[in-house]
Amino acid sequence: MYDDMAAALDRGQGLTRQLYEAFRRAILTGRLGPGERLPASRDLAGRLAVGRNTVTAVFERLAAEGFIEARGAAGTRVARLDPALLQRVQPVPGGRLSERGRRLAAIERGSPSSGAFVPGLPALDLFPAETWARLLGRRLRQGSAALLGFEHAAGWPPLKEAIARQIAASRGIVVEPERILVTTGAQGALAFLAQLLCDPGDPAWIEDPGYLGARGALVGAGLALVPVPVDGEGLDVAAGLSRAAAPRLIYVTPSHQYPTGVVLSLQRRLALLQAAEAADAWVIEDDYDSEFQFAGPPLAPLHNLAPRGRVIHVGTFGKALAPALRLGYAVLPPALVGPASVAMRHGGQAPPLVVQAALADFMAEGHFAGHLRRLVDVYGERRARLVEACARHLGDYGALLPAEAGIQLAFRLHSRDDRAASAAAARAGIVAPALSRAALENRAITGLQFGFAAVPADQVEPAVIRLAAALRPGV
Ligand SMILES: Cc1ncc(COP(=O)(O)O)c(C=O)c1O
Repeated sequence: MYDDMAAALDRGQGLTRQLYEAFRRAILTGRLGPGERLPASRDLAGRLAVGRNTVTAVFERLAAEGFIEARGAAGTRVARLDPALLQRVQPVPGGRLSERGRRLAAIERGSPSSGAFVPGLPALDLFPAETWARLLGRRLRQGSAALLGFEHAAGWPPLKEAIARQIAASRGIVVEPERILVTTGAQGALAFLAQLLCDPGDPAWIEDPGYLGARGALVGAGLALVPVPVDGEGLDVAAGLSRAAAPRLIYVTPSHQYPTGVVLSLQRRLALLQAAEAADAWVIEDDYDSEFQFAGPPLAPLHNLAPRGRVIHVGTFGKALAPALRLGYAVLPPALVGPASVAMRHGGQAPPLVVQAALADFMAEGHFAGHLRRLVDVYGERRARLVEACARHLGDYGALLPAEAGIQLAFRLHSRDDRAASAAAARAGIVAPALSRAALENRAITGLQFGFAAVPADQVEPAVIRLAAALRPGV
């Protein structure tokens, strides 16, 4: 057994930790039995070809934790631990998951996160790193107790004020800053709200095809997903009602349906609100990328049509700054403000306050508005290049679905097998996820998704040409 141990040691890594782990495992699994005598440290060091000090350090740690006992002249022995109890601490084969955990882990993986055309990825090449470094550094140097302690689980107050001003200007949502809950991105808001507002097993409508992150959030809260098909007008409310007339929660992306790009029509908005009212359901409006409009003003948010705060509006800074900053928000109805802030505190889910404070400063000093204006232009150009390149090189394979907002476009394929097309693209180094990957049951929509925001304008057409070559029959 000591020969095996010696052979398993990686001599380039810390030996003390490896030997400690090896002995601990041997004792827990019974390979070293209760009361068994261990070789003297000098002999063992020789057999394992390690320094004697290493063995002594390992023995000291094992003895301190009760795995072995040093008995002077009687030598060092494995502690007399009850084998029946040792059995109980064996790792569970396969890592046993809850049913909910199994459903979560079975959701499709996200797409790779770099290269053309990763959906949802913003222009990281334009991330204002210098300004952020300055603002973050300033906040950290202040070392204020308010920013480093337990306060403000629902969000840094100046950030809530800045967000309230921003959504009033950009989306016409006028609310007191207290009603803004700062979250770890839009996804954090969805997961948190699903837990706060629903019980396991509650039915939740979800767009089909739809955002995998929302699926994860709802599954994580133990909800029973009710896939509701999306057509040219967005979520098909009548189909939803025929599947489950009394949802507890409805998840929608009205401004720019993910992944098809369709805008939820006014008729459907009204029908959706009526259905929610009848079922006393919450509606979560995920307004993840509507800052980017390429043809006139967008429809007002669903939030502004809804009576009595039934619609919770969710937004993110992930599309204008960087997803990994994990900064988003939810606009809560007044009655939820108190419970949500207590629940955030207990759940430990708030984004770091210094980062929130840096964002508040970034907004208050006018950098955000300027950055957004620049992005609208840059994204507009990248998008125009994609539209042109698709018309020029991909006409034989399908066409872009019309969409005037957001940072990705859906390309409808003539071929039904979008997964094969996506795999061919991947072999050519292009990320173009299959639309069917976002589907639960809806097989009517197949195609590819192109995120254009992160691709510099001069790289768009070459990437589309590579994609066209990859899709050519026989390739
Ligand atoms: C539909 C939708 N909602 C929300 C998000 C953003 O989530 P987060 O702010 O958690 O990064 C994305 C990002 O891709 C998205 O596609």
